[in-house]
Amino acid sequence: MKVLIAGGAGYIGSTVASACLDAGICPVIMDSLVTGRREFTAGRAFYLGDIADGPLIDRIFAEHPDISAVVHCAALIVVPDSVADPVGYWRANVAKSLEFVAHLLRNGCRRLVFSSSAAIYRAGADLTVDEDSPIDPQSPYARTKAVCEAMFADVAATQPIRVLSLRYFNPVGADPRMRTGLQLARPTHALGQMIRAHQEEVPFVITGTDWPTRDGTGLRDYVHVWDLAAAHVAALRRFDSLPGQTAAINLGSGTGTTVRELLAAFIEVTGRPVQVREASRRPGDMAGACTRIERAERLLGWRPQYDIADGINHSLQWAALREKILTGVPISISAGSLAATARATLPEHENPLRASPNRP
Ligand SMILES: NC(=O)c1ccc[n+]([C@@H]2O[C@H](COP(=O)([O-])OP(=O)(O)OC[C@H]3O[C@@H](n4cnc5c(N)ncnc54)[C@H](O)[C@@H]3O)[C@@H](O)[C@H]2O)c1
Repeated sequence: MKVLIAGGAGYIGSTVASACLDAGICPVIMDSLVTGRREFTAGRAFYLGDIADGPLIDRIFAEHPDISAVVHCAALIVVPDSVADPVGYWRANVAKSLEFVAHLLRNGCRRLVFSSSAAIYRAGADLTVDEDSPIDPQSPYARTKAVCEAMFADVAATQPIRVLSLRYFNPVGADPRMRTGLQLARPTHALGQMIRAHQEEVPFVITGTDWPTRDGTGLRDYVHVWDLAAAHVAALRRFDSLPGQTAAINLGSGTGTTVRELLAAFIEVTGRPVQVREASRRPGDMAGACTRIERAERLLGWRPQYDIADGINHSLQWAALREKILTGVPISISAGSLAATARATLPEHENPLRASPNRP
């Protein structure tokens, strides 16, 4: 089986490509490198370019007529950037995805796996969600994901393509074989902040200790990026047996982890204490949520294999190796997206369920 991975030079797409390779599925990568890294494409079929570039997509399919499915991970993902630049985000994530699906249809693509997000949900009072929970995106970024899902559903209703949306919760960790991981040197999600506190002996700041969670700190559903990648392999293998023209499946651990629980796991893994400072909630923060994963189990036969300690361990290993693997500055930073730099401020994986800080 051969699969085209759009955004295959990014954090998740490159890990999906590795999992495909390990599973005997041949990945063909296309990526504009707006936030992705050329190093992550080494030794893999790679096309540099944009998902909206029709002639490029035509060329890829002409050169790989045996591509049987497409994984669409290409997007800008920084929530505050999407607030600051809604036009740029709607263009990058929605308009280009519309062009992309038109190019895919023209080239006879029948199977599309779309990277969607937990950020589209409104969590229930018990802070859990499933695929039937209300869709209520709270930021322009999250809305682009929900709108893409709706747009693909309209297309799949009458056109010869079926679409599976995989809604990721909070990815952590790296490829256990350390081929790829987060591009950022200083990720600012909670785990990234803990790694920084550990390395630089600065305090780790818990923002918000009065949330309606079991210990008052924010709740996230961390899912190891390798487990996410394995879910894509399962989805590609089982694609034709999935029900309907479109389907959506949540990918999370099935259990939430609070900030204090993450900290305890981190200290256990490293064997060293971390200085902690408690601060009040930041504007726009939310309690968070975790997902029920019965649908992923039933339809994909998938369950996460890695726990939070593995995610911490692999993140630490990657943090130590990252500079060696990523030898230079990011290959390309588009002025419009601001993504590579702004992502250092607040990546989506800090909290996909976070409201926009600028939202009234
Ligand atoms: N990381 C998360 O926390 C998270 C959570 C939920 C969903 N997602 C979704 O997963 C997907 C991958 O996210 P990621 O964390 O790997 O981000 P990433 O920034 O590492 O990867 C995105 C990749 O897409 C490429 N890209 C962006 N726009 C493109 C375009 N127009 N044409 C070609 N390539 C383009 C980038 O260069 C990059 O390599 C995204 O669709 C994102 O919305 C991510």
